[in-house]
Amino acid sequence: MIYFSNLPCSKIKQPLFLNYVSFFSSSSGLVIIIVVFSFSSLDMDQQQQIRKFMNIVAPPVILLTLVLLSPPFLVLEFFLSILRSFFSENVAGKVVLITGASSGIGKQLAYQYAKKGACLVLVARRQNLLEEVAEKARLLGSPDVMSVQADVSKVDDCQRFIDETVNHFGRLDHLVTNAGIGSVCMFEDSTEINKFTPVMGINFWGSIYATHFAAPHLRNSKGKMIVIASLAGWLPVPRMSFYCASKAALIKFHETYRIEYGADIRSVIVVPGLIESEMTKGRFLSNEGVLMEVDEESREVEVGVFPYASTEGCAKHIVDGACRGEPYVIEPRWYKAAIFCRSLCPEVLEWFYRLVYGTLLGALLRGGLSKYWMSRMTTKSPTHPQPNLLTKSLVD
Ligand SMILES: NC(=O)c1ccc[n+]([C@@H]2O[C@H](COP(=O)([O-])OP(=O)(O)OC[C@H]3O[C@@H](n4cnc5c(N)ncnc54)[C@H](OP(=O)(O)O)[C@@H]3O)[C@@H](O)[C@H]2O)c1
Repeated sequence: MIYFSNLPCSKIKQPLFLNYVSFFSSSSGLVIIIVVFSFSSLDMDQQQQIRKFMNIVAPPVILLTLVLLSPPFLVLEFFLSILRSFFSENVAGKVVLITGASSGIGKQLAYQYAKKGACLVLVARRQNLLEEVAEKARLLGSPDVMSVQADVSKVDDCQRFIDETVNHFGRLDHLVTNAGIGSVCMFEDSTEINKFTPVMGINFWGSIYATHFAAPHLRNSKGKMIVIASLAGWLPVPRMSFYCASKAALIKFHETYRIEYGADIRSVIVVPGLIESEMTKGRFLSNEGVLMEVDEESREVEVGVFPYASTEGCAKHIVDGACRGEPYVIEPRWYKAAIFCRSLCPEVLEWFYRLVYGTLLGALLRGGLSKYWMSRMTTKSPTHPQPNLLTKSLVD
């Protein structure tokens, strides 16, 4: 039902087929409630018998239902996406706050919103870079741009930048929680375990703190939450366990949150795959918990020869999806196939990951096939970073 509550215009007269779907969903809910109540009135032996019966009957019935319902559901999704594009939100003059706007996806999001005429609040720790982004955003068409130096893992900083936004503009329409860091190391190689807490602090808590302080303002403006999660929150990527966990928590939090808030605040969960940015150029937390400016070794193992999408294209897709009020934006789109594969046959994906990331062949290919291929390539991708190993501790 989230799909329907997320329709961009509440004044649209609901088409007849949506009424049928609503009726079908409510009746199914009613049947489930009746079954649960009847089940709880049975004694333990009877309940045990029914559980055994359900274990045998439920899987094939669910599979058959999926096969039967998938085609009409896909058709419905298609029509809904057409409907959403007709009622796409015009963000000109509206106020958009973006965290992590000093580089990569956040920077390009600022430019895309600026082209649509939105007023911007840009947040990150590197003030000099923020100023450059703000300058270009003004040239691209943003009527008013404010930059705020802040660390999203600090709750007081999050309260401050939301307060400053509302004091300056009097409203907030879109909150984009994009700030994030990656970490790359095998769990057994993480020498100082407590140095990885910033991954959760920035990727998860950084989004939650900002959401907490922004929620009353978003509710007033009937605004939107745009959450930059990651495909790694759905797929188990080796050497990125902390990162995957932080993004999985983020997705689950915001999926729950949008059910709680309903149509008051619409949430758009963005699931990017590999996108060209400082992160994919090797800006990761190393196994000592140190933020490497460019970690070529980890980059070759983790990103290797995999193709990645352009930051600009990704940002355009995200902003268009946000304006249409899509519940999920997956970029590149073909990654949907990997998610489908993961749901139907998770083992196949695990074998693939073990082979490519070198946990299957162990010491022979410790870096995995990905790194092996990279070492055999004579020319590297144009975005391949220079071996400029500047390091900076995040925790000390
Ligand atoms: N690139 C990909 O392949 C990919 C894939 C899936 C998801 N994502 C997600 O996309 C988001 C953007 O990443 P990116 O690829 O664009 O990487 P990026 O170029 O490294 O950008 C990360 C941004 O986050 C900001 N940031 C980091 N820590 C922060 C903190 N404590 N407080 C405030 N800002 C902070 C950084 O700014 P400062 O250092 O100036 O603070 C920077 O602007 C992240 O959430 C990432 O997990 C990226």
